Amino acid sequence: MALGNALYDEKLASVYDRMYPIGHDTDQAVEFVAALTPPGGSVLELGVGTGRIAVPLAERGFAVHGVDGSEAMLAELARRDPRGAVTTQFGDFTAEGTGRTFDTVTLMLNTFFVAITKEQQLGCLELVRRQLSPGGRFVLEAFDPAPYHTMEKPDFSVRHLDERAVMLDTLTVDRSLQLMVSTHTIIDGGAPETREHVLRYAFPFEIDLLAELSGLRLVERTEDWAGNPYTASSLRHVSVYERASEASGAEAR
Ligand SMILES: C[S@@+](CC[C@H](N)C(=O)[O-])C[C@H]1O[C@@H](n2cnc3c(N)ncnc32)[C@H](O)[C@@H]1O
Repeated sequence: MALGNALYDEKLASVYDRMYPIGHDTDQAVEFVAALTPPGGSVLELGVGTGRIAVPLAERGFAVHGVDGSEAMLAELARRDPRGAVTTQFGDFTAEGTGRTFDTVTLMLNTFFVAITKEQQLGCLELVRRQLSPGGRFVLEAFDPAPYHTMEKPDFSVRHLDERAVMLDTLTVDRSLQLMVSTHTIIDGGAPETREHVLRYAFPFEIDLLAELSGLRLVERTEDWAGNPYTASSLRHVSVYERASEASGAEAR
């Protein structure tokens, strides 16, 4: 694996579904991807994790394939999906493609930012374009970095996991590199354990530019899965891209 800065090991995999419980937002994300994909079409989720989105999509008849660089997360997905409705692949999506094309490719929950240089982000988007079928769509969900980019001091918060477990989160930003270092300390009765993740955040217009350099073109951007408009006060975005060759009518590269 070329990148290990934001992989979820066994400890994080064991609490992941409590960090991001299935809720209204998840249901709306599933609806959004389902509406974008032809009936029974193919979906590739990069950084598929425990299958929070992938499994419900597969249950709706889509052919879903997931890539993840964490065996522990893929094991959690297999537990959620004992009949193997989602096909999975262990790998680094920033470094290698699947060799196949899909109607829809998704990168949820800021997972794009695991590529920690602009060159890696560019390479990742080029791989996405190569894995998109003609007429296919790429969906990227990410936070808007503006509030983090201006952070003067490290931030600290506590997340409730369940009645006996909490997670202490710290966040430090180096704006000269657009890097965000977060630590997650799990307190669940045993010895506290800390994991560190590094992300390179990028602004929406910067992602659009990298996408354009990769042969992708923005089709629409909303602030959430419900389709609310993306505005100056939006704290995240859901962005949909297509292959630029489709837009211009030129030959696919
Ligand atoms: C925040 S989780 C998102 C999981 C899932 N997409 C969801 O929406 O619940 C990010 C996932 O990406 C995986 N990941 C991080 N870096 C990766 C890489 N370079 N290649 C493949 N998977 C990676 C992690 O192991 C983790 O499962």
